[in-house]
Amino acid sequence: MAKITKLEDIVSLCKRRGFIFQSSEIYGGLASCYDYGPLGVELKNNVKKCWWKSVVQMRDDVVGIDCSILMHPLVWKSSGHTDKFADLIAECKKCNVRTRVDHLAEHAEEHTEHVSLDLAQAQACDLTGKVCPNCGTAGQFTDPMAFKLMFETQMGANVDDAMTMYLRPETAQGIFVNFRNVLDSTRVKVPFGIAQIGKSFRNEVTTKAFIFRTREFEQAELEFFCQPGTDEHWWNTWKDLRFNWYLDLGIKKENLRLRAHEGDELAHYARACVDVEYKFPFGSGDWQELEGIANRTDFDLRQHQRGMRTLNSWFENNRDMTKIDLKAEAEDYQSGPLSYFDEQEKKRYIPYVIEPSAGIDRSALAFLVDAYDEEVVRGEQRNLLRFHPAIAPIKLGVFPLVKKDNMPDIARNIYNDARKHFNCFYDEKGAIGRRYRRQDEAGTPLCVTVDSQTLQDNSVTVRDRDSMEQVRVSTGKLLAYVREKLEV
Ligand code: GAP
Repeated sequence: MAKITKLEDIVSLCKRRGFIFQSSEIYGGLASCYDYGPLGVELKNNVKKCWWKSVVQMRDDVVGIDCSILMHPLVWKSSGHTDKFADLIAECKKCNVRTRVDHLAEHAEEHTEHVSLDLAQAQACDLTGKVCPNCGTAGQFTDPMAFKLMFETQMGANVDDAMTMYLRPETAQGIFVNFRNVLDSTRVKVPFGIAQIGKSFRNEVTTKAFIFRTREFEQAELEFFCQPGTDEHWWNTWKDLRFNWYLDLGIKKENLRLRAHEGDELAHYARACVDVEYKFPFGSGDWQELEGIANRTDFDLRQHQRGMRTLNSWFENNRDMTKIDLKAEAEDYQSGPLSYFDEQEKKRYIPYVIEPSAGIDRSALAFLVDAYDEEVVRGEQRNLLRFHPAIAPIKLGVFPLVKKDNMPDIARNIYNDARKHFNCFYDEKGAIGRRYRRQDEAGTPLCVTVDSQTLQDNSVTVRDRDSMEQVRVSTGKLLAYVREKLEV
C-alpha cells in the first residue's frame, strides 16, 4: 500500500537528490525563495512543456506570448492592483510577528489563498479573542492594516526622474494589454485565447510549506476571449480540460477535486470561479488551490480601456480612476480600441474572458508529492517517485554492468543515440542495484543495462521503475521500444 507522504520527506528528498534548494543557502538562506537544482529544473521544464502542449500547441484557437516583467505603472492602476492588491494584517504586540487577519479566522489554515480586503475587514471586527500563531499570546494584536503585496522598484538612473515600478504580481495583465496587438498581427478571431508562462512576484505575508507559497514563482495563465453569452460554455469547457490535465499526467483522482467559489469569496468582477485543489500533506492534510478557473467577464479589457482614456489626466492630476464617465464608456463599447467587431455576428462588443490560472511551482510540488512512494523490497527500503513519463526529469538510465569487456562503449553508444530524443543519464559507478535505486528516487521510468549477454546476442536488459520487472530487448529495437513505452 502506498504510504501517506509527509512534506518533510519531500523536502529532504528534494535537497538530497538536487531537485530544490533553499535560495542563498550558504549565506543562511533567503526565506521563501528556492532554487531548482539539476533534477528540479528538468521537472519544472516538463510541467511547463506539458502545459504549453495542451493549452497552446494542440489547439488552433490559442496563441502564446511572452511579456516583460516590468510594465507601465498605469497597467497596475487600471487593473486595480495598485489600490487593492493587499492583505489585511495585524501585528502581535508581544512578538511583533505579523499575521494575515484571514488566517486568524476560525478553522483557517495559514496556507489558504488571499481573501479580498473587504472580506478580511469584515472578519477583522474582533481580534480580542485571537491567538498569535507565533508566540501563542491571546488578544494582543494591533489594529488591522493593509499590507501591499506588490514589490516596488525604481526605473531610471537619475533620482529626480526615476519612476516607481512594480514587479508583476501576475502574468495576466501582460496578456490584456496586448489584446489589440495580437488581434492586429495574427488571424485569430473570437473565441480565442492568449497564453503565457512566466515569473510573478508577491510580497506574501505567510510563506510556509516549501514551494507552495513563495515570493517569486511561476504562473501559467490563459486568457480566453469569448462573446458575452457564450462565457458559461467556455468556463465549463476549460474547467474540464484543466482538471483532466492533472489526471492525465498521473495525479491520483482521490487527491484532486474541483471547488466552486461561493458568496464573498468570489472576486467582485468575476461571474464564477472554481479551483482545482490538491490534497497536500501540510497541517491537517488539507485541500489547497493548484489553479483557479475564473469567468472574469469584460472587467479587465474595460479597465484598460478606461486606463488608456485617462492616461494623461491621471499623470497630471492623479485623477481618481474609479469615477466612471458613462458617456465615454458607451463610446468605448462601440468603438474603443479594446472592443471587438464580430464579423459573423455583425456586432461589436468587449469580449468576456475565461481565465485558467495555474502555478507551475505548486503543480511541480503536487507532482512530487503524488509520485512519492516508499516500499520494502527484499528487506531494504526503496524510495521512489512514480512520475508520469512526460513529467519525469530523466526518461532513461543507461548502465554498463561492469567497467570492462567493451560494455561501457556499447552503453555509451546507446546513451548517445537515445539522448538525441529525450533526457538520459549514463552511470557506470557502483553496484547495479544501487544505480537502479538512485534512478528510482529520481523518478526515471526505465533503465537499460548492458551485460555479458549483450556481448553474445546484442540484447540489453530493460528494467521498469514501478514493477521492477526486467525484459530483454535487442539493441536494434531498443529506441523504438523505449519510445513506445514512454510515449516520447
Ligand atoms: N491572474 C489570476 C491570478 O493570478 P491567483 O489565484 O492569485 O490568480 C493563480 O494565482 C495561481 O498562481 C494560484 O492558483 C497558484 O497556483 C499560483 N500562485 C499564486 N500565488 C502564489 C505564490 N505566492 N506562490 C506560489 N504560487 C502562487
